[in-house]
Amino acid sequence: MRKYTRIIVTRYGGPEVITVAEQECPAPMPGQVRVKVLAAGVSLPDVLAREGVHPETPRVPYTPGWDLVGIVDQVGKGVSGFELGQTVAAMPISGCYAQYVCLPQRKFIPVPAGLDPAEAVAAVLNYITAYQMLDRSAKVKPGQRVLIHGASGGVGTAFLQLGRLAGVEMYGTCSTQAAEVVKELGATPIDYRNSDFVQEIRHLTGDGVDAVFDGIGGDNLWRSREALREGGRVVVYGFQASGLGVVHPPELVSAGPQEHGALQYPVADAAETRVVPPRPTHTVRPTAAEEDQAADRTTVASLPSAARTRITGKWRRDR
Ligand SMILES: NC(=O)c1ccc[n+]([C@@H]2O[C@H](COP(=O)([O-])OP(=O)(O)OC[C@H]3O[C@@H](n4cnc5c(N)ncnc54)[C@H](OP(=O)(O)O)[C@@H]3O)[C@@H](O)[C@H]2O)c1
Repeated sequence: MRKYTRIIVTRYGGPEVITVAEQECPAPMPGQVRVKVLAAGVSLPDVLAREGVHPETPRVPYTPGWDLVGIVDQVGKGVSGFELGQTVAAMPISGCYAQYVCLPQRKFIPVPAGLDPAEAVAAVLNYITAYQMLDRSAKVKPGQRVLIHGASGGVGTAFLQLGRLAGVEMYGTCSTQAAEVVKELGATPIDYRNSDFVQEIRHLTGDGVDAVFDGIGGDNLWRSREALREGGRVVVYGFQASGLGVVHPPELVSAGPQEHGALQYPVADAAETRVVPPRPTHTVRPTAAEEDQAADRTTVASLPSAARTRITGKWRRDR
């Protein structure tokens, strides 16, 4: 039997919890495709999952790795439409830090020929996240103004590239060192460390922006609302400023298993003071295992509603 190597996280924590294991290579089950992994993404959500603080954190032991690009190596019974050697991509949320990965065939999409796998994998999580929020959540139109927080980051730079194609006027918060990159990608940089972004937006635009994309969370979220113009909306999709283990209003935390797309946390409307419930843009029927995971997340969903206005809860998967 062929051996393969995969990364295993046996407990939540820093990089020191990552271990390497050599095991028997899995054979694809009926309906599954096995790929030889050529590239796997490394993202902030991967790190947060390893720390045990991301809402989608798998139970330990698990193999990290949100997304992959690989070549089809073997197909299980009943699989059609895939050829051995074909390049494909997938976003299973975990499991990609391995030499071989088996997944149901519906999880794979073909990758156009001639792309560098490492470049192609960078498009999977970050660009799908940005695309879904621009196109499906905010439904931006050419000429609209948007503010992108963390504009120099993985999702942020994807936003900038897609936003430029969409013809929107872009503003992006970033640190001083990243200002040049943000500018090159078509946005007006706003130094979030040394200035007040709400004041800057008011100064630069007059009446504010049509959409703010906020992966920062915490107090930033409520400030983002102040940068909106009439009828604008804040699309919230991450909580990196809150500190590890701190969760936000239960309404802001995804409650169901979702895949093949950004987890679309809720949209707060400028005209309203409440935060509307999460509206995933793409939800698929969960498997039994995914339902188990969702049941675990009720801890988050059952936090008191007082959490609406402040960060109140801590959540960490400790198993
Ligand atoms: N919902 C989804 O489906 C989904 C998918 C992917 C990612 N996410 C979330 O999106 C967020 C960003 O992820 P990422 O992979 O893009 O992370 P990343 O590559 O680490 O980028 C984060 C960026 O945020 C900047 N930053 C930090 N604090 C900031 C603040 N207070 N104001 C403005 N910018 C700030 C950092 O810039 P400096 O270092 O220059 O300060 C950094 O460039 C995370 O919360 C992640 O969990 C959500």
